[in-house]
Amino acid sequence: MMCGVGNAFVEADNLEVLAALDAASVDLIYIDPPYNTGNDFVYADDVRGTETGIAGRHGAWVAMMRPRLAAAREVLAPSGAIFVSIDDHEVAHLRLLLDEVFGEAQFLAQVIVNLNPKGRQLGPGFATSHEYLLVYARDARSCGLEPSTTDTVDPGDFPETTPDGRRFRHLPLRNTNKKFNPRTSPTLHFAIWGSPESGDVRTHPFDGAVEVLPVFGDGAPAVWRWSRPRIEERPDDLVCRRVRGRRGDRVDVFQRDWWHAGRRKKLRTIWMAEEIGSTDTAVAELKDLIGPLFESPKPTGLIRRVLATMPDNARVLDFFAGSGTTGHAVALANAADGGTRRCLSVNSAEPTRPGSNAHEAGYATVAAITRERLAAVERRQGGELVQLAPTTAAAWLAGR
Ligand SMILES: C[S@@+](CC[C@H](N)C(=O)[O-])C[C@H]1O[C@@H](n2cnc3c(N)ncnc32)[C@H](O)[C@@H]1O
Repeated sequence: MMCGVGNAFVEADNLEVLAALDAASVDLIYIDPPYNTGNDFVYADDVRGTETGIAGRHGAWVAMMRPRLAAAREVLAPSGAIFVSIDDHEVAHLRLLLDEVFGEAQFLAQVIVNLNPKGRQLGPGFATSHEYLLVYARDARSCGLEPSTTDTVDPGDFPETTPDGRRFRHLPLRNTNKKFNPRTSPTLHFAIWGSPESGDVRTHPFDGAVEVLPVFGDGAPAVWRWSRPRIEERPDDLVCRRVRGRRGDRVDVFQRDWWHAGRRKKLRTIWMAEEIGSTDTAVAELKDLIGPLFESPKPTGLIRRVLATMPDNARVLDFFAGSGTTGHAVALANAADGGTRRCLSVNSAEPTRPGSNAHEAGYATVAAITRERLAAVERRQGGELVQLAPTTAAAWLAGR
């Protein structure tokens, strides 16, 4: 395996690793920090100088996260982005903290992630069925994140077919958003000509053509989505058709919106378990590889969707790696698309909980679980897990 491609692991406190990485050396950070549920968060930093002004448990959590997020910002490339998983316990504090560290202008999304579709049935109150993913750019103006995916594009949504077999769907050429009208966009309100018999569309009259003006369903004047020069450049992507409207038959113009392999669709901000997997899926994935050794792993589908927003040679960092889901997802993504992503995972030697599956199975630390899974992933790909010290991680990330 090429140096610097695939998976590497560092067992250490993440603050120490972050401090040793080069500035601007990472394209994508995914983290899933302890959620501060009351029993998942052990705060071990030197507490001097970590006053947050926030009371109690929240204050300690913010004090733990602040220097790590500040260091994470430093290691992100100008085109980079960070995704942080979190639930209701700390989402409010984390959002404000990310605003503080990255800047409000770098906020990209707060995604709702439906990881528990049945909802939490134990305990009082609502059956919570989601958590969050907060997404921030290092610099929104130069961020390379493409918030779209090929996963949710259904060829069935493109029901029309040309004689040579190309699939497409009809989209109205008129802008259906009432915010855009002849008053707000006067240059996009003009007459065009179309023939419902041949389907041809032009910006000038021709034999058999009728004049078509953009109108809303209620007959009020509307505007086109394309300018006159664009219509002239792409007449084959337009078609004139007779349609039945609220006010009887009329002639209208449609764009032929083509389906093609690799076509992307904008990502919505609610990600459903049937698209990305659930906590149950994640537990099964882990069990299949090394056994049910970690209680709340993330599904690889969630991380693969995150990876799909960045180039396929991204340098990825997960500095709260847990069971190593991010590294697993990177290996799966590279195998699927031939990408050359590399992933540095970091986890501390946090002791496993006595009585837990991992402890019973002889894993003394969470880092031992991370290592075991990433090594299993690499073996499946015919490779070997690279194990690094905090001081050698920077060179590996840089492919040196
Ligand atoms: C919620 S879990 C991550 C789960 C992971 N996303 C997965 O799918 O398995 C958070 C992890 O961060 C680790 N951790 C907590 N504090 C840390 C620190 N200061 N440095 C490195 N790892 C830390 C914990 O041991 C735990 O494994």
